[in-house]
Amino acid sequence: MKPTLLTLAATATATELLLPLYQFPANNGGAWAPIEAALTANPSLTAKVIINPSNGPGGPNQGIEDPQYAAGTKALAAHANAQLIGCVHTSTDGGQTRCNMPYANITADIRKWATWVDAGVAIRGIFIDEAPANTANDCVNYMRNLTTFIRTDPDLTARFGARPIVVYNPGGTGTLQPYYDLQPDLIVALETCFTVQEHAGGDYDQCSAADVYERYDHDGVGSSIDNVLFPNIGQANAARTAVLVHGFHHFNGPAANLSATDAVLEQLIRGVVQRGVGATFFNTAGYHTFTDGPASIGRVMEVLSAANAA
Ligand SMILES: *[C@@H]1O[C@H](CO)[C@@H](O)[C@H](O)[C@H]1NC(C)=O
Ligand SMILES: *[C@@H]1O[C@H](CO)[C@@H](O)[C@H](O)[C@H]1NC(C)=O
Ligand SMILES: *[C@@H]1O[C@H](CO)[C@@H](O)[C@H](O)[C@H]1NC(C)=O
Repeated sequence: MKPTLLTLAATATATELLLPLYQFPANNGGAWAPIEAALTANPSLTAKVIINPSNGPGGPNQGIEDPQYAAGTKALAAHANAQLIGCVHTSTDGGQTRCNMPYANITADIRKWATWVDAGVAIRGIFIDEAPANTANDCVNYMRNLTTFIRTDPDLTARFGARPIVVYNPGGTGTLQPYYDLQPDLIVALETCFTVQEHAGGDYDQCSAADVYERYDHDGVGSSIDNVLFPNIGQANAARTAVLVHGFHHFNGPAANLSATDAVLEQLIRGVVQRGVGATFFNTAGYHTFTDGPASIGRVMEVLSAANAA
């Protein structure tokens, strides 16, 4: 029997927040105050927070060596419901070729993230950006090696915790089952924009008018998950999947033409939670500003908490 949404919701675990925090922690982390306030206001919601000073842990005077980053990440990590994960990437050509970053380089970046823990910032695992969405370039072995390294290297488990968090970001669908088989905590298998092309690409927007993207839920609430995501990844992988939606402004065009209102935000987030998706994020603009409504960080965390409790 095909499970109904109701039975799925009853058996699913909570949908976490996966926050790509690509904003600089200006004012000694003061720029992140709205995120800290939302963490405090929603203690039952777990937030995996991606820390990314410079497409990785950062060079000299960056990242943990920058007092502003050190202060900002220390303050965030002090929240019991925040799990900080450090970004690394597998590509040397901006994502064109995946898994061509020399293994020694990417593991050196992962070890560098472990030094943040020695400096007092509780990094709990790794976000692997520019992860593969097909099996070319021996990527399955590369990702298996990396995942095993992160989860079992004693110097890493001593710092990240007994079971370090591992998240892959191919940024979209493709051939993902070989990667789900490696048992990462999450794969970002749908990352897209809500608004129509004609309104994409403003200040701080993550959408570009030149991109071709799945206008999120353009066929109605839950349609991007039901019609694009699940047919590709298989519904059984929902709990290990993250759905990230940015550019929540204006309207999403034919056919449903939903408007970016608070009421629609609630419906869309409920639609994600009811489908048993492991983690999500909605934002009005891109990953560098989190206070613009309607999908401000405070409101998104509040709505997600409520949807989990429903
Ligand atoms: C890999 O690391 C070596 C040694 O630090 C460096 O010279 C090289 O530029 C790095 N390669 C890439 C693609 O980052
Ligand atoms: C994975 O690790 C094995 C064993 O250490 C090694 O032989 C192989 O070359 C690695 N493959 C990739 C793609 O990193
Ligand atoms: C979608 O709705 C907006 C107003 O919310 C309207 O301006 C626009 O013309 C509509 N687009 C379509 C294709 O119906």
